[in-house]
Amino acid sequence: MSKRKLIAGNWKMNGNLAANEALVKELLAGIGQPACDVVVCPPGVYVAQLQGLLAGSPIELGVQNVSTHENGPFTGDVSADMLKDFGVRYAIVGHSERRQHQAESDVHVAIKAKRALAAGITPIVCVGETLREREEGMTEFIVKRQLAAVIHLNGHCTSEIVVAYEPVWAIGTGKTATPEQAQSVHAVLRAQLRAATEQADRVRILYGGSMNAGNAAELLAQPDIDGGLIGGAALKAPDFLKIIGAAA
Ligand code: PGA
Repeated sequence: MSKRKLIAGNWKMNGNLAANEALVKELLAGIGQPACDVVVCPPGVYVAQLQGLLAGSPIELGVQNVSTHENGPFTGDVSADMLKDFGVRYAIVGHSERRQHQAESDVHVAIKAKRALAAGITPIVCVGETLREREEGMTEFIVKRQLAAVIHLNGHCTSEIVVAYEPVWAIGTGKTATPEQAQSVHAVLRAQLRAATEQADRVRILYGGSMNAGNAAELLAQPDIDGGLIGGAALKAPDFLKIIGAAA
């Protein structure tokens, strides 16, 4: 089934007021009318700046995290409703860097997805195996376990999420999964979604992990790869624009 692809930039903890403005201006100067959906996810503190810069443009605003709570005594947290106030449309949840450094569990990730959905924000749920897990033949087990937690908590609303398959060994390493490796995991995830919801074919499954201007077209040509979640290459306007062009 062909659907509009989604290209998402994950800026991680990079940027500042001046650099963000320069990057967005360069993107807007080159983007024209993209044939795919495009979102950038700056560090949370810059959502107000980005809301202003992106107003009326074809680029939507996302964030890299959302609280598991709705409001109250949760020092340092930012809720989905607060993000919605600033025009946030997407929230990455369960990125492997947060699973690893912030000890986010599958259940935390599922709750974050639920909070986002309740606020009208589309969660981009990240799943992926480490190199060791791949070498031990655990890839399918790991990604299915991670997605199962989200399906279990979100029921039929699962059709409203975006999934991102990001093999941990490919993130920031320059070591991309081959199109065949990525497609085979995407097919597993698609089958799992089909078992959970009749609307599974609507769900966009992104690939992430060293996607760049040179390898994007081949990855995006796979039948179950519906877009990309891009880290390093999203910080360079010409590269990000090439990836957007490859998602036509
Ligand atoms: P990368 O990061 O493109 O720099 O590998 C992707 C991600 O972590 O989302």
